[in-house]
Amino acid sequence: MAPAAAESSSDGRRWWLWGCALPPLLLAVAMLLPRGGEALSLDLYEERCPEAEAAVTVAVRQALAKDRTVAAGLLRMHFHDCFVRGCDGSVLLDSTEKNVPAEKDGPPNVSLHAFYVIDNAKQALEALCPGVVSCADILALAARDAVALSGGPSWVVPVGRRDGRVSLANETSTLPGPGASFEQLKQAFHARGLSTKDLVVLSGAHTLGFAHCSSFQNRIHQQLLHDPALSPSFAAALRRACPANNTDRGAGSAMDATSATFDNTYYRMLQVGRGLLSSDEALLTHPKTRAFVALFAASQEAFFRAFAKSMLRMAALNGGDEVRANCRRVNNKP
Ligand code: HEM
Repeated sequence: MAPAAAESSSDGRRWWLWGCALPPLLLAVAMLLPRGGEALSLDLYEERCPEAEAAVTVAVRQALAKDRTVAAGLLRMHFHDCFVRGCDGSVLLDSTEKNVPAEKDGPPNVSLHAFYVIDNAKQALEALCPGVVSCADILALAARDAVALSGGPSWVVPVGRRDGRVSLANETSTLPGPGASFEQLKQAFHARGLSTKDLVVLSGAHTLGFAHCSSFQNRIHQQLLHDPALSPSFAAALRRACPANNTDRGAGSAMDATSATFDNTYYRMLQVGRGLLSSDEALLTHPKTRAFVALFAASQEAFFRAFAKSMLRMAALNGGDEVRANCRRVNNKP
């Protein structure tokens, strides 16, 4: 059960959630309606791999103890997995000679990191119960743990996702980009069966982590495009972090003022012109979404409850057909 080496640098079918019981900050899924095939389950691993969840939690906890940024990495990785071919672990596959490039090497994914945490959990699980727990499930559980261990809510993750065998970099172009308009963001979510509310709620994941200059550069330098929604002092601070002649590819800004803690600061900053990405700002352009921003800025509890629910809805987008032995490679066909 030795953990794999840490990485060297930063590196359809669908299921629908019907309803949730809501003890404070812990959601139990009441019903899942599959669109064909078997449903996700709350107790699938109880007999065949009772330690599954604990092993994932250990891997996440160990990584976080050394590097707080892995929480943001895991949460974003899960989102990028689910939005391309459903939550099937396709984002975890490495490019190979036969499959160049894979999703992982698509433009929006080059700044994903913390893949080693999933490898460590998988290695531990293959030692405990080989061939049982899918990489897609590991990622869904790890994202949940990353949020909870950063001070956010926790929830019960239904399991039984299967890992996909297809991973294509060009499909990452369907992921919403940082300059997306409100209409584009809405469409990206609706196309996956997620609501406008889910858009506002899940954008709250930007309470964690970091963005590179290239993700918001257009808002702070080009005179004509200079974004009037940005607070002048915030824009000035961003220009200092990302000067026009910046050559440091690692430079950027924290997503919010408390970027290692999962809280509602993101929404409070958004209300005062300190939302980092244009796509964050876009949530203020419609009265309905603006009202959700105000609600979550005023009540962290409301945000936490909504976040757990929306994460369950996103994590229920499924695809895939095997349980990989190694999350970076598809299984060999007999
Ligand atoms: C609504 C549309 C979204 C857009 C346009 C968007 C875009 C982005 C961009 C451009 C970055 C910065 C990447 C970089 O510069 O390295 C980022 C970071 C991040 N995003 Fe999103 N995102 C969206 C929704 C989400 C969702 C739904 C989640 C998770 C549920 C999420 C989680 C994160 C996290 C945690 C980070 C920080 C990553 C890190 O520090 O490694 N995002 N996002």
